[in-house]
Amino acid sequence: MMITTENKIAINNLIEERRSPRAFEDREVTEEQLELLFEAARWAPSAMNEQPWRFIYATKEDTVNFNRLFSCLVEGNSWAEKASALFVTVAKQTYDASGKPNSHAWHDVGLATGNLLLQATDLGLHVHLMGGYNAAKAREVLGIPEGYEPVAMGAVGYAGDPETLTDALKAREVAPRTRKPLDELVFKGSWKQQ
Ligand SMILES: Cc1cc2nc3c(=O)[nH]c(=O)nc-3n(C[C@H](O)[C@H](O)[C@H](O)COP(=O)(O)O)c2cc1C
Repeated sequence: MMITTENKIAINNLIEERRSPRAFEDREVTEEQLELLFEAARWAPSAMNEQPWRFIYATKEDTVNFNRLFSCLVEGNSWAEKASALFVTVAKQTYDASGKPNSHAWHDVGLATGNLLLQATDLGLHVHLMGGYNAAKAREVLGIPEGYEPVAMGAVGYAGDPETLTDALKAREVAPRTRKPLDELVFKGSWKQQ
């Protein structure tokens, strides 16, 4: 494997095009589109094929449930009000068969969510994931039972015009996207101290 710090190596288009916008168009995302996103998530790999992911979603048209999800977000994520749908991801904490703790549950929820994001990109949609929400409130207002843990929230929609954002958000929206260089992240053979 060639390790390089260049960030312009050609990668899969869906991965390249995915990003997390804050500006969204006022445009409906259909139930059929959302079903496809969750179907993509459903086919993710998971430890023991446990499929510990659960999703709770609401479209903008479903005002009561959309607002309930929106109320769980921190103020800094208020831009998500413009999204066409919101969801929360949830991890089942124990294995179905044994009842023992599933230490891979969050990992596997992340894998499923990654599938969902790429399927969204394929549909011309964008998903912006958010850790900035009140998990205890989500548990309460969404009725998430014991044994299941809220992981993250997501805003789904068509990426909109950055000009519709406040100056601070616009600056973040149009800033160049950056990543750590590969040689900080990948070690051949054994751990390399930086
Ligand atoms: C678990 C998780 C939590 C995140 N939480 C927030 C958040 O609360 N608010 C926000 O604006 N972005 C949030 N993000 C988005 C990241 O900031 C974003 O993915 C990162 O800056 C890379 O940008 P990109 O997705 O456009 O490539 C979160 C992303 C992930 C995966």
